[in-house]
Amino acid sequence: MPTHLLDDLDAWRKAWLDARNDPDGFWLRITHDLIAWRRQPSRGLDGSYLTLREGPITWFADGTLNVTESCIDRHAQAHPDKVAILWEGDEPGDVRRITYAELLDLTSRAANVLLEAGIQKGDRVIIYMGMVPEAAIAMLACARIGAIHSVVFGGFSAEALRDRVRDCAAEVVITQNVGLRGGRTLPLKATVDQAIQGESSVRRVLVLHRAPAPDTHLHPLRDLDWHQALAAASPVCPPVECAAEDPLFILYTSGSTGRPKGLLHTTGGYITYVAWTHRQVFGLQPDDIYACMADVGWITGHSYIVYGPLANGATTFMFESTPTYPDAGRYWDMVERHRLSIFYTAPTAIRAIAAQGDAHVTRYDRSSLRVLGSVGEPINPEAWRWYHDVVGEGRCPVVDTWWQTETGGICISPLHGATPTKPGAATLPLPGIIPALLDGDGHLIWGPGEGYLCLEHPWPGQARTVWGDHDRYIATYFSAYAGRYFTGDGCRRDADGYHWITGRVDDVLNVSGHRMGTAEFESALQSHDSVAEAAVVGFPHPIKGQGVYAFVVLQPQAETPDAFFDDLNRLIREHIGAHARVDRFQLAPALPKTRSGKVMRRILRKIVEEQPEQLGDLSTLADPQVVQALLAGYIPA
Ligand code: WT7
Repeated sequence: MPTHLLDDLDAWRKAWLDARNDPDGFWLRITHDLIAWRRQPSRGLDGSYLTLREGPITWFADGTLNVTESCIDRHAQAHPDKVAILWEGDEPGDVRRITYAELLDLTSRAANVLLEAGIQKGDRVIIYMGMVPEAAIAMLACARIGAIHSVVFGGFSAEALRDRVRDCAAEVVITQNVGLRGGRTLPLKATVDQAIQGESSVRRVLVLHRAPAPDTHLHPLRDLDWHQALAAASPVCPPVECAAEDPLFILYTSGSTGRPKGLLHTTGGYITYVAWTHRQVFGLQPDDIYACMADVGWITGHSYIVYGPLANGATTFMFESTPTYPDAGRYWDMVERHRLSIFYTAPTAIRAIAAQGDAHVTRYDRSSLRVLGSVGEPINPEAWRWYHDVVGEGRCPVVDTWWQTETGGICISPLHGATPTKPGAATLPLPGIIPALLDGDGHLIWGPGEGYLCLEHPWPGQARTVWGDHDRYIATYFSAYAGRYFTGDGCRRDADGYHWITGRVDDVLNVSGHRMGTAEFESALQSHDSVAEAAVVGFPHPIKGQGVYAFVVLQPQAETPDAFFDDLNRLIREHIGAHARVDRFQLAPALPKTRSGKVMRRILRKIVEEQPEQLGDLSTLADPQVVQALLAGYIPA
């Protein structure tokens, strides 16, 4: 049985070898078992990493389905009163429980509202919301009618939202009048208004009234009130039959260069992969109360708050607030009150709470906890031990799950107690995942060693392309090492074959688990009249994982008022969003460049990592003196 839980290392090894020797058979058995297909697929993978120019790879190409039947209908039939979404709002104790029967009703109504707004299969809908159940319902409503959703994290600015609306030519935006987070009010609807001002593809805005707010303005011809529209809509909406490779969603993410890319995930392979990995990694049991603290604006929220858990018929928890509101005990307060059994969060949250002292944890009853998960960035052994020993009282396995927006689901991770763990290691690849470490010359590293992490063979959950730019997809991920997917991460493999992710090796920053491109920061900084040039790099930060360090070269004769750096951070907030800011600025006379004019970030990185003795070869610099000036002006924490 493909769906039985892999519960020891031998079971893992057998499954891993099965998947490697016969990937089609392996995944077909799993998808037949876990997913409600309309027409069962007979094909596994078509295409390869070497044939991407001819078109994206496909999985299960002759199957048809609608993912909402897997995520809702069959559970609404089998156990209508089981809680599908357990939600806690910003204020402790503000709780909602939505059963599978209710989820079917609400999703169908929302789908009918979209149909009435003229949305058809293949059309794009942007969801710009906080962590409310309606965000999940909006995603599922799109899936119900074959529309493609693109969730934009509620912290992004109007400008960032506008870019995404434009890139995918969205016709509907779903938002809230305001968002609530950590006792603060976020003007989501006002930001949407700003983003779609002027000429826009957007014809309708659906607005959830989250809380009383004085000045939300509904445009009479364009905007609809969520509650009114759903109340008037039919609670029955037949699911649209989709091909396995029809798009399910677009999710924008930052890379080393240029604007964020819209990664496209499709239907049959994605739902198979997230359902299966959710089950295996967490060792899901029918009565689990499963809680992932991510935001639906990121891939973790898509795969492991919404699609994976619901496909498995689980109770999934949604949390609107922050780990430190009203105090650093909030998570464990909720663990006690809701009897949460699986708890999945990010290292940055663990470090932030640990810094506030153990008492915030120990004053709550955590006996319901069974498995603890970590995601988003490397977890340092100290934080891992605190999570394991203090939060989990030494009895809950910690699964450190490595994956990416691009991979769709977890790729390297221990399995729920089946895999012996080591603090700080993502351990072993899941069945279907074949990691390869390469050195700088593109040679494979066998056995223990450290190198660039690639993955060898396609798996069903992988993003198929970049929306509207398949060439960019190939160039970004498949051109560094022919025939392999390049992850952008560095990785060490130890003598036990365990994987230790060392972090990004490209110009991508990971600040508090938020993925941001240095290029996005630099373009925001350069939009200031006084800035001639800017270069941004990450530096090690005790809580956030990485902080942001900006080297700024002024225009000749530029004035720098007292609030200059605040102005620069305001620009960054406008261009990117409230989650982006520079921690440390250094005014620099010039940037270190090669003779051909390329900024040498390697050198800047060494300077901010406080390793000036390891600057390496400076002979290729156009002006080696620049480095001395930068070292002299370095701003320590
Ligand atoms: C990047 C992907 C995976 C969902 C959330 C982030 C880093 C992620 C781990 C981990 C070490 C990790 C990598 C990766 N990362 N999980 N367990 N250990 N690093 O998705 O925003 O696409 O970011 O996050 O650097 O490339 P994302």
